[in-house]
Amino acid sequence: MIRIENLSKNYGNLQVLKNISLQIAAGETVAIVGPSGTGKSTLLRCLNLLETPTEGKVAIDGLSVDANHLTQKEIYAFRRKSTMIFQDFCLFNNKTVLQNITLAMQVVQKIDRVQAEGEAEEILRQIGLLEKRNNYPGTLSGGQQQRVAIGRAMALKSKVMLFDEPTSALDPCLVGEVLSVIKSITQKHNTTIVIVTHEMRFARDVADRVIYMDEGRIVETASPEVFFTSPAEQRTREFLQYYMN
Ligand SMILES: Nc1ncnc2c1ncn2[C@@H]1O[C@H](COP(=O)(O)OP(=O)(O)OP(=O)(O)O)[C@@H](O)[C@H]1O
Ligand SMILES: [Mg+2]
Repeated sequence: MIRIENLSKNYGNLQVLKNISLQIAAGETVAIVGPSGTGKSTLLRCLNLLETPTEGKVAIDGLSVDANHLTQKEIYAFRRKSTMIFQDFCLFNNKTVLQNITLAMQVVQKIDRVQAEGEAEEILRQIGLLEKRNNYPGTLSGGQQQRVAIGRAMALKSKVMLFDEPTSALDPCLVGEVLSVIKSITQKHNTTIVIVTHEMRFARDVADRVIYMDEGRIVETASPEVFFTSPAEQRTREFLQYYMN
């Protein structure tokens, strides 16, 4: 479903991603962990072409792009292959919960309003927010706002969802409700998920594979069982010792 080949990203003289190659199968859930500033968000943003890679190729669902010759048209087409969920929700604050979800469906998928509202209400039921359908985002808790952002992504029926630390802006007591919505997506839908997270227990629980990134490189990739009990690399062990304590 996702293939990354020799991906590099430079900001001026700073090489943030260093020749990354990675394949992710359809339906797989991959958690990316690692210290701050190691390029996790940059990798995710390159997967959505919010950042243009400096070198390398990325393919999602059969559409391949090459950093060396990338047209604006390709960028737009490629962006629609995945949906990104950000740390700070990025909802439209002047639209209701329902409108936040239907708007994307009407604009991106050209679905008419009545059908969009029906589908949006079903999604709101799944994420436990039907009674908030007419609320504005400003009147919701952070956890509820993030669930709306996830609902919006679900409405787009994207085969690939990219989560960049979806719970790190939340009060600790609201983290669980958002993680459980993400977990339900990994279980019920055949969505391919890449999630950058500092929630190690969640990574262990829901990921099929865990990737440890450090200084712009993939240091280690393993199943959660192996990753959290007997990682191969010293750097992974040090990171886990720090994070799991
Ligand atoms: N637009 C930019 N211009 C210049 N440097 C950037 C830009 N975006 C990111 N960087 C740099 O790239 C490096 C990687 O940043 P990135 O945000 O990908 O890290 P991260 O692993 O997501 O960190 P965190 O866990 O703190 O979110 C950092 O050194 C950062 O300062
Ligand atoms: Mg980041």
